[in-house]
Amino acid sequence: MRFTLMTAALALTLAACGGPEEPAPAPPAETAAPAPTAAPSPEMTPPAEAAPPVEEAAIESPYADAIAALPAPYNEADFEVGQSIFRQCAACHLVEEGAGHRVGPNLHGVFGREIGSLPDFNYSDPVKEADFTWTPEQLDHWLENPRAFLPGNRMSFAGVRRPSDRVNVIGYLMVVTEE
Ligand code: HEC
Repeated sequence: MRFTLMTAALALTLAACGGPEEPAPAPPAETAAPAPTAAPSPEMTPPAEAAPPVEEAAIESPYADAIAALPAPYNEADFEVGQSIFRQCAACHLVEEGAGHRVGPNLHGVFGREIGSLPDFNYSDPVKEADFTWTPEQLDHWLENPRAFLPGNRMSFAGVRRPSDRVNVIGYLMVVTEE
């Protein structure tokens, strides 16, 4: 093989140095002709620039549909931001069904549940005596200022100050506590 290539190279060298009488073979017309028609005209170029944003939106969050189905304002929640805010809660709370408690009670199925009602969690008296069902709105008040919401409760957590952060973490919880 190497010999053949060297021979070819030598032949080319010789051809390059060859006499001007050698006419260079003209390229066959059939191979040259199709090129201009095959090249896409600018108008025919597929909308490649429009495609990537669509794909990004599709992979943005696998929970986008679940968030969009929530009642306002939680349908505007950012799942990923809510997830990162929940890391503060995750020190004390698990959300998976049957995963048990940490310092705080398991939050699976919390919406629609009576406050302080898990039979195997030792709630404080103020929480046990409180009488309401968890809704997103109640959780919003609780997280705004846990201490003021139910004085004497044992959730030692400063709260989530920014309203938009509460929307995000509550939207996140509405999705993951129902899974
Ligand atoms: C330092 C630990 C800790 C952190 C952090 C914490 N919690 Fe709690 N949480 C508790 C404890 C303890 C209770 C039970 C309070 C009681 O009985 O007085 C509780 C109770 C709750 C309840 C009532 C549950 C029920 O069964 O009625 C909800 C809802 C809740 N927390 C949500 C959150 C969310 C959301 C966050 C984060 C934004 C959070 N908590 C952060 C410890 C924590």
